[in-house]
Amino acid sequence: MVRPRIIVTRKLPEPVEARLKALFTVAFNPSDEPFGKQKLIKAMTRADGILCAFGDNIDAEVLQAGGARKAQILANFGVGTNHIDLEAAEELGVVVTNTPGVLNDATADLAMALILASTRRMWMHENRLRRGEWQGFDLTSGLGCSLRDKVLGVVGMGRIGTALAMRAHFGFGMKVIYFNRSKVFAAAVPKAESVDSIEELMAQADVISLHVPGDAENRHLINAERLAMMKPTAHLVNTARGDVVDETALIEALQKGAIAGAGLDVFEHEPAVPEALKALDNVTLLPHIGSATLETRIAMGMRAVDNLQAHFSDQVPPHQVV
Ligand code: DGY
Repeated sequence: MVRPRIIVTRKLPEPVEARLKALFTVAFNPSDEPFGKQKLIKAMTRADGILCAFGDNIDAEVLQAGGARKAQILANFGVGTNHIDLEAAEELGVVVTNTPGVLNDATADLAMALILASTRRMWMHENRLRRGEWQGFDLTSGLGCSLRDKVLGVVGMGRIGTALAMRAHFGFGMKVIYFNRSKVFAAAVPKAESVDSIEELMAQADVISLHVPGDAENRHLINAERLAMMKPTAHLVNTARGDVVDETALIEALQKGAIAGAGLDVFEHEPAVPEALKALDNVTLLPHIGSATLETRIAMGMRAVDNLQAHFSDQVPPHQVV
């Protein structure tokens, strides 16, 4: 039997590449250089399936591939699929899968790390130390704020939001409130309270953490108006998608000291990070590493391979999005 041909757009952890090689005829990307549009189109015309990732902009034009598309499935390495035009994929009958579940802990850990970094002003302190400006131990300069009894506002209490809320509540003594688009959801976190509007959450929380998908409905969910509702002592953390926050409005709020700080793992126009953000010492900036542990990346890759394997065995992939 002819083995399905898979094109992989990014370098993968070694055990994942080994498993793919055992199952399919595979073209890997050892240089890890991201595919541009033309290369993605070409891949669509040559492969039976593509293993892709965030950063591959798979729009309707790529999916159509000039009418010469061969690929039946896009197995995304990651849970977010905002870089794929899902509507066009569904219309064209291209299966799209993702890798939910296995990255909850790693991403929640990183959100917690950003909460600690922001509330303890770690970036500012580290930067001063590295610049040789530390004069020795003192009692009153650059104090942060404690988390115990503070309010964590989770926007999007799904799998990752819940994992963060558990850490914040049980590990750090925070009270948790949350806002969800869908009201049918009851949080698994003890004493977590649902609020009726995002405005309520913005006004009440001491730390706000975003865990919503990067879809059109959530674009600039956190805008100038909502940022202005935050307490001046509050912190904003984003490990979801960059465009959930109006970056220009956030920069202005941080520059004016209208909010105390922010921790960002994602940006509106990745990999570009505005110089104005880099110049601020009340924001911690990380390069989209929410799921970047070796264990998690292997588990994500294996999930993507499970999806491909199911599809090419005429089964419904376990994590089919469309
Ligand atoms: C995800 O899984 O969505 C991560 O952000 C990486 O794409």
